[in-house]
Amino acid sequence: MKNTTSLNIKVIAGSTREGRFSDKAAVWIADEIKKQNGISVEVLDLRDYEMPFFNEPVSPSFKQEPFKNEAVTRFTKKIAEGDAFIMITPEYNHGTSGVLKNALDWVYQEWNNKPVAFVSYGGVGGARAVEQLRLNAVELQMAPIRVAVHIPGEQYFQVLFGKMDAKELFASLADQAKAMITQLLWWTRALKNARG
Ligand SMILES: Cc1cc2nc3c(=O)[nH]c(=O)nc-3n(C[C@H](O)[C@H](O)[C@H](O)COP(=O)(O)O)c2cc1C
Repeated sequence: MKNTTSLNIKVIAGSTREGRFSDKAAVWIADEIKKQNGISVEVLDLRDYEMPFFNEPVSPSFKQEPFKNEAVTRFTKKIAEGDAFIMITPEYNHGTSGVLKNALDWVYQEWNNKPVAFVSYGGVGGARAVEQLRLNAVELQMAPIRVAVHIPGEQYFQVLFGKMDAKELFASLADQAKAMITQLLWWTRALKNARG
């Protein structure tokens, strides 16, 4: 497959609380991806997909017909469109957010055989949340890639408390973002090719 094949990357903002950071990180990493040719990028903000806590009688992996909840239907369609994902995750009590985990749980086949990368932030760069997400991703038959952007607590909390501009923080992460995007695109092309 040639490098010019159009790829569709979905960036998922994984927190919804007032004053959150995930939306800012999502826009930043989407802009970094847009620097590449032939890539279509869309930010999926979980605030726009108000899915209930998973409450269906069957697991998505066994479902015989589409779930009827309107937000779930829209979200599932977006995941089906994606060739790869970047999940922006906070670290809540050493795990990811409930809202992001719930979004993962609602979908199954549409995640399968696609790569996923992570941007996280927190005391230890959100690493504990990402390690849990990698396990979740494997169960969803995804390929979690190695390189991630872990925004270190030292800088992250300065932004949170207004002592550092978010733009300055993001500029300092450009190399890490580029390394992650390069690896993600390699897997995206490989798996898109394999999916046929
Ligand atoms: C419920 C809750 C639990 C948290 N637990 C952790 C934690 O385990 N580790 C950590 O580094 N930060 C933790 N924090 C601080 C978050 O890193 C910080 O609030 C961050 O901005 C949350 O992401 P968000 O702004 O996208 O919601 C926690 C925050 C909340 C609201």
